[in-house]
Amino acid sequence: MSSFKIVNIIPVEDTEVRKILEEHWGSTTIIAMDRVHTIEDLSGFVAIQKNMAAGLITYEIRKNTCEIVTLNSLIPRIGVGSELVSRCIKLAREENCEKIWVSTTNDNTDAMKFYQKRGFRFRQIYPDKIDEYRLKKPEIPLIGMNDIPMKDEIVFDMVLHS
Ligand SMILES: CC(C)(COP(=O)(O)OP(=O)(O)OC[C@H]1O[C@@H](n2cnc3c(N)ncnc32)[C@H](O)[C@@H]1OP(=O)(O)O)[C@@H](O)C(=O)NCCC(=O)NCCS
Repeated sequence: MSSFKIVNIIPVEDTEVRKILEEHWGSTTIIAMDRVHTIEDLSGFVAIQKNMAAGLITYEIRKNTCEIVTLNSLIPRIGVGSELVSRCIKLAREENCEKIWVSTTNDNTDAMKFYQKRGFRFRQIYPDKIDEYRLKKPEIPLIGMNDIPMKDEIVFDMVLHS
């Protein structure tokens, strides 16, 4: 049976975290819903298995809202992604956030399935947003997952307190 532990990292600035963000997001600058995040803004949780990072979630809480900024599982299908998201939801509830949200791109069908199966609702689509972001962050690839052109931003959220 696979086991991993979750470690809270506040702030997120850390060599291993920087490496994961650079490898999976092209740099430590992340753009979502027109907001440019730098590593210094973020907090996160890291999953650790056998002293190695097995996954990373970063988030930012502001105005009673929690944004999942990045999520990466480095060991797929053992529960790392689910556990990192549940930790973030738990924290958002403890911080009295009204909602938690995340954005992804039109090519990322795995993430669309993943978040919806964990209670997030499809909320908005912003056509051509990624083309705009690419002007600020040229390392965003033109072709994304599943060989789909990466063009649109898609937002999912979960209401926590009504
Ligand atoms: C989306 C993503 C985070 C999922 O991470 P993950 O660690 O594979 O997620 P989990 O292991 O918790 O769940 C994945 C599947 O494995 C299954 N699973 C979990 N533990 C399992 C186990 N021990 N044995 C068999 N299956 C298992 C889960 O049931 C789940 O299937 P489901 O979604 O049909 O219910 C990961 O694919 C990823 O990093 N993608 C690239 C980055 C990305 O898209 N991030 C999200 C946008 S911000």
